[in-house]
Amino acid sequence: MFSEAGVSLAPSKKALVNGRLSKRLKATGCASFAAYHELIGANLEERQWAIDLLTTNETYFFREPRHFDYLREKLLPAHPRGRAFRVWSAACSSGEEVYSLAMVLADTLGGDGWSVLGSDLNTQVLAKARSGHYGMARTEGIPHACLKRYCLKGKGNQAGTFLVGRELRARTEFRQINLNAGMPPLEPFDVIFLRNVMIYFSQETKAQVVRRVVGLLRPGGLFFIGHSESLNGISDGLEPVLPSIYRKPA
Ligand SMILES: C[S@@+](CC[C@H](N)C(=O)[O-])C[C@H]1O[C@@H](n2cnc3c(N)ncnc32)[C@H](O)[C@@H]1O
Repeated sequence: MFSEAGVSLAPSKKALVNGRLSKRLKATGCASFAAYHELIGANLEERQWAIDLLTTNETYFFREPRHFDYLREKLLPAHPRGRAFRVWSAACSSGEEVYSLAMVLADTLGGDGWSVLGSDLNTQVLAKARSGHYGMARTEGIPHACLKRYCLKGKGNQAGTFLVGRELRARTEFRQINLNAGMPPLEPFDVIFLRNVMIYFSQETKAQVVRRVVGLLRPGGLFFIGHSESLNGISDGLEPVLPSIYRKPA
């Protein structure tokens, strides 16, 4: 079933799959996993439920902060003004990565001349990402100055939450994109983040996904992967800049 997402579910993950899907079996009246498997083969809506339940969506603001420091200190100050700077967070989960990027872009480039696309396969996390609305516990990791400048603290019945400011939300867009399928037509990007998703792919899927995603990077653009991931054997002509940061040759 997970051929669609490209996520490998080894036999050792059986308990996890059972745990996450058992409620859907009940809700759909399927007596067995075999029956459920047949159902999602034919029913697209139920298939999306299964995908949403089976993907692992852990994320947080300014995760792996060295990447954001690199953008802020090295890359963005050298960006020539006049051409919009385009960033793609290609497995953005609930949006924290996208808004962290937006905060750094707004700080360094100002209120316009840049945009961030966030995409994911899971529709539930995309809805959360679009809302830009999070619990206060999520503020950990957000630099104090960014928190003050770009986040609105909830009051009254919104107490205990915050909303990412409209000026950042207006420059972000969220779309459902399956990395394990043909890409929709997109303009090339200056920077692509593909972090903490390849760990779920087989080596072959990983190679295909990297090729597809890097195809949308502008020559000279930068490609960021998670600190615990590697492009061993699949770096596809990318030049290493720092561990987990690569450049597409100009
Ligand atoms: C662990 S999160 C990583 C979020 C963020 N990039 C970070 O590093 O914090 C992995 C995300 O990849 C998404 N994902 C898994 N397979 C995918 C696929 N084939 N296409 C697009 N997104 C996928 C999951 O839904 C999940 O939200």
